[in-house]
Amino acid sequence: MDRIRIVGGTQLHGSIPISGAKNAALPLMIASLLTPETLVLENVPRLSDVRMLKRILGNHGVDVTVAGKRAGESTEDGEVVRLNAADIVDTVAPYELVSQMRASFWVVAPLLGRMRQAKVSLPGGCAIGTRPVDLLLMALERLGASIEIDAGYVIAKAPDGLKGAEIDFPKVTVGGTHTALMAAVLAKGKTVIRNAAREPEVSDLAECLVKMGAKITGIGTSTLEIEGVEGLHGATHRVLPDRIEAGTYAFAAAMAGGDVTLEGIQPIHLQAALDKLVQSGTEVIATNTGIRIRRNGTPIKPVDVTTEAFPGFPTDLQAQFMALMTRADGTAHITETIFENRFMHVQELARFGAKIRLDGDMAIVEGTGSLKGAPVMATDLRASVSLVIAALAAEGETMINRVYHLDRGFEGLESKLSRCGAKIDRIRG
Ligand code: EPZ
Repeated sequence: MDRIRIVGGTQLHGSIPISGAKNAALPLMIASLLTPETLVLENVPRLSDVRMLKRILGNHGVDVTVAGKRAGESTEDGEVVRLNAADIVDTVAPYELVSQMRASFWVVAPLLGRMRQAKVSLPGGCAIGTRPVDLLLMALERLGASIEIDAGYVIAKAPDGLKGAEIDFPKVTVGGTHTALMAAVLAKGKTVIRNAAREPEVSDLAECLVKMGAKITGIGTSTLEIEGVEGLHGATHRVLPDRIEAGTYAFAAAMAGGDVTLEGIQPIHLQAALDKLVQSGTEVIATNTGIRIRRNGTPIKPVDVTTEAFPGFPTDLQAQFMALMTRADGTAHITETIFENRFMHVQELARFGAKIRLDGDMAIVEGTGSLKGAPVMATDLRASVSLVIAALAAEGETMINRVYHLDRGFEGLESKLSRCGAKIDRIRG
């Protein structure tokens, strides 16, 4: 298994191109099941989760091809992926595939909408909490599907097609909103989704569906209205930049010190995190092409953070912000409200000498003057990258094990950081 070695203590200087967002690319790829015509997605990040989803869609009969690089196209652009679901050969998503990636459960919605049936394995547990799918199933039932759970599989049927309905989510769910949207676009009549997730990745999916011929209004708000159509057609859509990747490098630059420009990011997608960064004493400057993050020797001020649905502070940046706060000049309180068990990074950060105490859903981080490199290991994607951030600022060498978690969500992590002067390399094997 590959490992990553980091020798910390170097400031970061330079620019980092931000990749397409993993969490937008995945539902967009799944939306290809809604049409017999080709969906072309540009700027798709080269990540193991994307490769896995290509396999899963291939299993349903989707023909997935990746276009070669065209003259003038930068190598930093993501892939151009063409997905064609002219013939859906299988409406079953088996345990072996779904258990490896939770988002693949969302195929249930387009399969049900287009094929009127789907049998999809329950996604199962996860290192960050129990993560049920009850609200996704509630949405499908509201749209007229019958749902049965048998031997670990959800069997969803709508022999006469789905019918528009009112869906009121009791709590904000990104996956629930993706599912409801993809099911509603081909349902007969009007659907209203209330308390919809407003994450930019949800809007990106909705905008792509509109290009495919769907009728959706209220995009970007918490009430989405969908007028069902008979069928969707092909389209070309560019995946939006990854706000979580950008936030991660912003925190890394703040922690290690230096001056880094994050290219291609839309600051509005990251406002809550950037506001916290400014409060911590870091300079954040909007440029024509992205944002510049600068901290030169000034102390890191402690800042309290509570995770919330968009536009609040994202749970996917909680571990990284905690890493930053381990070097703060005082005590910070970090409260996780989205997932009940997303503190697995605490014990690993402690290996660097961080002082963190847990009290229910709150982590109390007592900043220390310096961290020391250590061998570490992590249990999920964002937790792993919090260790990278800590290692960049720690004295001496850190060895990060289980880097397959990083490969799920961070394209070109080592090359992006090393072009800014970080001492980071991958040990294969
Ligand atoms: C998406 O997960 C993201 N995944 C997650 O990113 C992200 O952390 C999360 O949204 C929150 O922003 C992808 O986009 C692929 P939810 P999702 O449904 O859709 C509860 C990463 O690191 N809930 O918004 O699964 C749930 O348990 C990943 O890239 C129910 O109770 O998250 C959680 O407490 C990790 N019943 C809350 O809602 C349900 O049926 C929000 O979850 C569904 C969810």
